[in-house]
Amino acid sequence: MAVQPDLMASSDVAIWTDAEPLTCCAVVPEAPNTVTVSFVTASGAQFRYEPGQFLTLELPVPGGTVWKTYTISSSPSRPMTISVTVKAQAGSVGTRWMLDHLTPGMQIKAIGPAGIFSMPRNERKKYLFISAGSGITPLLAMTTYLYDRGTDVDVAFVHCAQRPQDIIARQRLEQMASRVPSIRLFFIVEQDDPYRVWTGLRGRLNQLMIGLIAGDYLERDVYCCGPEPFMNAVREMLIALGYDMDHYHQESFAAPVKKEDQLPEHDDVVLDERAAASVAFARSDVTAECNETDTVLAVARGAGIVIPSGCTFGVCGTCKVKKTAGDVHMVHNGGISEDDIAAGFILACCSSPIGAVEIDV
Ligand code: FES
Repeated sequence: MAVQPDLMASSDVAIWTDAEPLTCCAVVPEAPNTVTVSFVTASGAQFRYEPGQFLTLELPVPGGTVWKTYTISSSPSRPMTISVTVKAQAGSVGTRWMLDHLTPGMQIKAIGPAGIFSMPRNERKKYLFISAGSGITPLLAMTTYLYDRGTDVDVAFVHCAQRPQDIIARQRLEQMASRVPSIRLFFIVEQDDPYRVWTGLRGRLNQLMIGLIAGDYLERDVYCCGPEPFMNAVREMLIALGYDMDHYHQESFAAPVKKEDQLPEHDDVVLDERAAASVAFARSDVTAECNETDTVLAVARGAGIVIPSGCTFGVCGTCKVKKTAGDVHMVHNGGISEDDIAAGFILACCSSPIGAVEIDV
């Protein structure tokens, strides 16, 4: 396969922004209660994002709107469409609505892309991808991206599922792995499907399996995604194996713990809870008094104004709003780009007003 420098949307085409709704173009079953939903733009704008980032969808469920954040399962090397692969857990409202009601032709508002769980542009040569359940999605995007780029990057990809039928996008992964020797797949299941032959691994991922799957795991960058207990178990295994955790990356929808050298410079700002502040919501014609330790999102809620939100700790980018006057102290976790900040946007969930602030809401 010829090596191609970069397959993301080129700079001379219009790039999608979340001001334009997405049009659903396909809903494909992947596994029980799991579908891949793909979207296009009516304008023909293309999608630009990093493999591993996520998108927040505005879902019109009965009883009101909910915002749900999903990892993008497509690759930016295929910029005409964007896809999320979603699994409806018991009791889910938004994702259940997608499975039961979202059909091609429908339009959905989306916010993003955002997120910092992604591969660096200067790719390392060897990866060990480890996922469980629907945590496969960011690693599916990264694998597709590496495959499309035609690089010789070495990927050992181990995915854990309850049963073979629960393996999401199995055919898509096998199709890629069958065409390049640099992608090797390993599936581990806890149970067989009745009356189906299973020749893969059984049980739960353990240290022995890691050694068998990738004997050179110490030389690989590890990317891990799955339920929190699964990721904790993988971390503990790798630490016990003497792995250099500086090369370990995990997706998380919990607030990331940052190392000291990753903290923003302005973190030493000490907000005064007695200092008066105010937030003017210009389009709503409402001004709310508060103090400097309140977040703009909390002030909005107190004033009865809806700002869409997801994670509430600066990761997902759902609460991005335009600041039209004044200053805020913002401590985000990667949910907003430098370009957006330069253009005057803030994340309402992690921005506190300093004095009088005006927001375009
Ligand atoms: S709600 Fe997720 S960044 Fe604010």
